[in-house]
Amino acid sequence: MYNHFQLAKKYLRYFLTASNGKGHGVHSPFVFDFITHVLNDTKQYDCYASIEDQRKKLTADFSTIEVEDFGAGSSLIKTNQRKVKDIANSSLKPAKYAQLLFRMVQYYQPINILELGTSLGITSAYLSVGSKDARLYTCEGASSIAAIAQQTFDALRLKNIEIIRGDFAKTLPQLLTTIQTVYFVFIDGNHRKAPTLQYFQQLLSHSSNATIFVFDDIHWSAEMESAWTDIQQDPAVTLTIDLFFIGLVFINPDFKVKQHFIIRF
Ligand SMILES: C[S@@+](CC[C@H](N)C(=O)[O-])C[C@H]1O[C@@H](n2cnc3c(N)ncnc32)[C@H](O)[C@@H]1O
Repeated sequence: MYNHFQLAKKYLRYFLTASNGKGHGVHSPFVFDFITHVLNDTKQYDCYASIEDQRKKLTADFSTIEVEDFGAGSSLIKTNQRKVKDIANSSLKPAKYAQLLFRMVQYYQPINILELGTSLGITSAYLSVGSKDARLYTCEGASSIAAIAQQTFDALRLKNIEIIRGDFAKTLPQLLTTIQTVYFVFIDGNHRKAPTLQYFQQLLSHSSNATIFVFDDIHWSAEMESAWTDIQQDPAVTLTIDLFFIGLVFINPDFKVKQHFIIRF
C-alpha cells in the first residue's frame, strides 16, 4: 500500500492530467453520454439522505465486534476486536463514489448486480436503490460485519439484496454457477493483484457485452496499479475509465477501438 505522501502525489498527477470532466475533447459518444448523464448528474436523489443517515449512525456506533480479518489477503488471517465506528470510517466508499455507483445502476439498469466486499452495507444500499428491479448479490467474509449490513438493509427496507457469506475464493465460483451472467460488478475487497485478476477472469466468463465492472482503489498500491494495467490490456476489454479511486471497465465489442480515459471526478 502506498503511503499518504505517495498517494497524494499520484492524485495530484491524476488531477492535473485527467480530462476536465466536462466531456470536451472526449472522442467517444458513449463516454460523453456517461459524463453528461451520470458522472456530472448533481441532482440530490431522495435516497442520498436516508442512506447517509444510516452511515452517520454507524460512524457514531462505539460497540465492539469480533471481526474475522481478511485483510488485503484472500484467506482468513486472524480475528480482531473492532469498533463499528472505526470500520464505518475506514472501510466504506465515501458518499461521492457510492452515489456515482447509484447513478450508474440507475442509468444502465443491469439485470443483476454483484458486489465483492459488503462491509456494513452502505454502498450495497445505494446499488440496491439505484436498480430496484435488479437482484443484488453482495459477498462478505466477516460474519459479524455481514450481520450489521443486514441490519442496514432492514432499516432501509431493502428487499432485493442477498448477502453471500464466506471467503470470495469459495463463494464466488459457487454463486456464478447459479446466476450464470453478471451485468454489473463492484469489486471492493481483497485488494491484491493475483486475487483481483482471478476474480476478473472468473467474472469475465460469466459476463455479457453489456456487463460493467467497477474496480475499487486501482491506485492504492503498486500491486493494484499492476492489476489495473493487466485488466486494461485484457483482450476482452474495450474501454476503461480511470476516476483515480475507482476504475470502470467495459467489454462491449461495439467499441471497436480499445480506448482508455482518465477523467477528473
Ligand atoms: C472495503 S470493504 C467493502 C466496502 C463496501 N463495498 C462499501 O463501500 O460500503 C471490503 C470488505 O471485503 C471483505 N473481504 C475482504 N477480502 C475478502 C475475502 N477474501 N472474502 C470475503 N470477504 C472479504 C472484508 O471483510 C471487508 O468487509
